[in-house]
Amino acid sequence: MKVLITAGPTREPIDPVRYLTNRSSGKMGYALAGAALAAGHEVILISGPVSLTPPGDTDILRVETAEEMFEAVASRILEADAAILCAAVADYRPAEMAAEKIKKSDDELTLTLVKTPDILDSCRTEFGFDGILVGFAAETENVESNALDKLRRKGCDFLVANDVSLPGLGFDSDDNAVVIYAKGGSPESIGPASKSDIAAEIVARIFA
Ligand code: CTP
Repeated sequence: MKVLITAGPTREPIDPVRYLTNRSSGKMGYALAGAALAAGHEVILISGPVSLTPPGDTDILRVETAEEMFEAVASRILEADAAILCAAVADYRPAEMAAEKIKKSDDELTLTLVKTPDILDSCRTEFGFDGILVGFAAETENVESNALDKLRRKGCDFLVANDVSLPGLGFDSDDNAVVIYAKGGSPESIGPASKSDIAAEIVARIFA
C-alpha cells in the first residue's frame, strides 16, 4: 500500500523575518512514516519545517505554508491508498506578507488574518480521494464530542484524538496518549506510550 502522511507545523509569513507557527514538532507524523515503512508500505511524507530526519526510503516533500501543504497533498494524494493528515496546519495566516521588515512604531499593531485552506476537509470534496482517510485532532476540551464531530464533518474513516492539555504528552514530547475513533466503531484508547509504539498501532489498525 502507499500512504501519504502530513507532518509538522506550517509557517505563515508576516514579513521577511517573522512568521506565525505552532508547537508541533513533527514527531508523531515522522513516527507514522517509520511505522508505515516498517509494515512494508510506501510512504509519501509531506512535511512542514521540523528538525527531524525522515526515515530512509521516504518520498519527502518539504513545505512551509498551509497553502504549499495543500498544493503538495493535492498533487500526490490520488496515488495513495491511505492518507494520514497529522500536520498541525495553521488555520489562519496573515492576509498579506509585508515586503519589508515591519518597523516598530505605535504601541499596538493589528494583524489581519485570513483562513487557510482546510486540507483534510478537501480530501473528499475537492481532491476526490476515496482511499482510507485518517484525521488528527488536537483538543484541549470536550475531546470526544469534538473528535466525533470532526470525523463526520471531514469524511474520515478514522480520527485520532489527543488531549494536548495533558502534562508531558503530545506537543514536542516523545510520548503520547490517543483515542482512535473509527467510523461506526467504538473508540479505542492507546497509550500513554512512545509515539513510535502509538504510530505502529495506528498503522496496524487502519489497515486491519
Ligand atoms: N487540518 C488540515 N488543514 C487545515 C487545518 C487542519 O488538513 N487548514 C487537519 C489536521 O491535519 C488534522 C485535522 O485537520 O488532521 C484537525 O485539525 P484541527 O486543527 O484539530 O481541527 P480544525 O478543523 O482546525 O477544527 P477546530 O479548529 O475547530 O478544532
